[in-house]
Amino acid sequence: MAERLPLIFVLASHLLITGVLSVSKLTIENKCDHTVWPVIFSWQSQVSTTGFTLEKGEARDIQAPSSWYGLISGRTRCSNDSTGNFSCATGDCESGTIECPGNYGWAQVTYLYFRIDNGGAGVNSHTVSVEYGYNLPVMVVPSQSSPTCMSSGCVVDLNKTCPEDLKKLSNRGKPIACSSACQQSNTPEACCNRDFKSKQNCKPTVYTQNFERACPLAHIYTYDDNNSTFTCPKSTDYVITFCPSSNPN
Ligand SMILES: *[C@@H]1O[C@H](CO)[C@@H](O)[C@H](O)[C@H]1NC(C)=O
Ligand SMILES: *[C@@H]1O[C@H](CO)[C@@H](O)[C@H](O)[C@H]1NC(C)=O
Ligand SMILES: *[C@@H]1O[C@H](CO)[C@@H](O)[C@H](O)[C@H]1NC(C)=O
Ligand SMILES: *[C@@H]1O[C@H](CO)[C@@H](O)[C@H](O)[C@H]1NC(C)=O
Ligand SMILES: *[C@@H]1O[C@H](CO)[C@@H](O)[C@H](O)[C@H]1NC(C)=O
Repeated sequence: MAERLPLIFVLASHLLITGVLSVSKLTIENKCDHTVWPVIFSWQSQVSTTGFTLEKGEARDIQAPSSWYGLISGRTRCSNDSTGNFSCATGDCESGTIECPGNYGWAQVTYLYFRIDNGGAGVNSHTVSVEYGYNLPVMVVPSQSSPTCMSSGCVVDLNKTCPEDLKKLSNRGKPIACSSACQQSNTPEACCNRDFKSKQNCKPTVYTQNFERACPLAHIYTYDDNNSTFTCPKSTDYVITFCPSSNPN
């Protein structure tokens, strides 16, 4: 048995080293003039947090392990009620706390999808999606750059881009989010499902047209052109910025 130990040790340190190498660092930074409460939901593999507070000007690094497949969004205008129940005006995960450990219903917010070392293929992918709505301007900047590995994002002025009937207003009448036409009406036409389940039958809405114009690199609706997903080598790290000062387009 004694002779076996060094071998086990070598194997273990090998696993440790390859494990460390395939982690991607996701830096989430808040350049908004208000607090953002990010949510991290995982379909595959896990990261160390499901939800946290990011004060204005603050940044936090998340280590995303190989094969992590998940999404990141930002909640706004969160507060605790008198019973200590935590909830947010946009992107609430209905957990009653800052963490979002359970299921996550689709909310009217800007989503970022990541796949780290997708299926062991040695590539990561990232997508910015406003398919369900939009609440915060966001930009994703990979640490490497190539024609397939580009910065992506969606930065709009809600007053201009969001159709009037889809605007979500704060108590004071300020626009704080935009619901997608599908999320708002949930009709087969707006969601492109059932009889409308093909690109030809899926008619543009004012929402999809406005966002397509403002954010051509974002995923806007089910049959969107397939170039909103960018792929980078698995050694890539990412900086995700809520309220970047500049528009990626
Ligand atoms: C809500 O309460 C939690 C737990 O006490 C606290 O950590 C958090 O800062 C509070 N959040 C807000 C927005 O007041
Ligand atoms: C806490 O807030 C959530 C989201 O608004 C709500 O669904 C839930 O019923 C509340 N829980 C309590 C105990 O008030
Ligand atoms: C958007 O409209 C609201 C209400 O009309 C106004 O208070 C706000 O300043 C406008 N925001 C921008 C960025 O123009
Ligand atoms: C979109 O891209 C994915 C991955 O690159 C591919 O599997 C899929 O077939 C593409 N879909 C269309 C409609 O081109
Ligand atoms: C995305 O696809 C559309 C239609 O296929 C094309 O016109 C556009 O140039 C593409 N954009 C990028 C960034 O590749």
